[in-house]
Amino acid sequence: MTELKVPSHVAIILDGNGRWAAKRGLPRKLGHKAGCEALEQIVEDAARLGIKVLSIYAFSTENWKRTKEEVGALMQLFRYYIPRLRKRCFEGNIKVETIGDMSLFDEDLIRGINELKRDTRDFSRMTFVLGLNYGARDEIRRAVVRLAEQVKAGTLEPEAITEQMISQNLDTAVLKYPDPDLLIRTSGEQRLSNFMLWQCAYTEMYFPELLWPDFKKADLVRAIEIYNGRDRRYGGRNEADNGK
Ligand code: FPP
Repeated sequence: MTELKVPSHVAIILDGNGRWAAKRGLPRKLGHKAGCEALEQIVEDAARLGIKVLSIYAFSTENWKRTKEEVGALMQLFRYYIPRLRKRCFEGNIKVETIGDMSLFDEDLIRGINELKRDTRDFSRMTFVLGLNYGARDEIRRAVVRLAEQVKAGTLEPEAITEQMISQNLDTAVLKYPDPDLLIRTSGEQRLSNFMLWQCAYTEMYFPELLWPDFKKADLVRAIEIYNGRDRRYGGRNEADNGK
């Protein structure tokens, strides 16, 4: 068998926690708890497989619309899992970054996450990116505001704005690696739901039916196999198409 090419940057939309719980007659928060456990394991598996950046959609700008009880339960889970993730990151030489606007979170949570980022900043095996109060439209809006301020100050001509400048003003500009090569969304839903809209212009997508808490290392390997079967042309032609 030929060796698998491991995508450098994998993005995951963890979906199906609620349905996983409902199928078992459990409250939704236990679905999220099971989802956190699955995530803890996948972070380690991804690093072992040689993935360089793993980005996940942990909490979206739209998730505030859920009931107060569910939002509260998710915040409690973040509180509980941050120290556990910290341990994984230290053991696995994994650096943590965040995208999104964390300012709406409680102060203790912001502090805990910022400390995790600070204390893992020299780790280099993999970067684990948490989308926290992240929405791609909000991210693009904030980038536009920054560029508009430069135009207003007279330091930038509107016509001089390039795609690269837009990319450099997105939250993901902190990452050393390029845009996601592969995006996985579990639970059979086939949409981006405001996740990395700019960055996923040429990303390969894979939508397994599995609910997120059931997603295991073998499913990640399967996703990588599927990615290997894709023909990435970035809007151009591939050599095999030559002359057709
Ligand atoms: C979607 O399931 C999942 C979420 C809203 C995210 C939950 C987040 C985690 C498990 C990651 C936690 C991250 C850290 C840092 C510990 P859903 O509720 O939409 O499922 P449903 O569509 O079946 O209702």
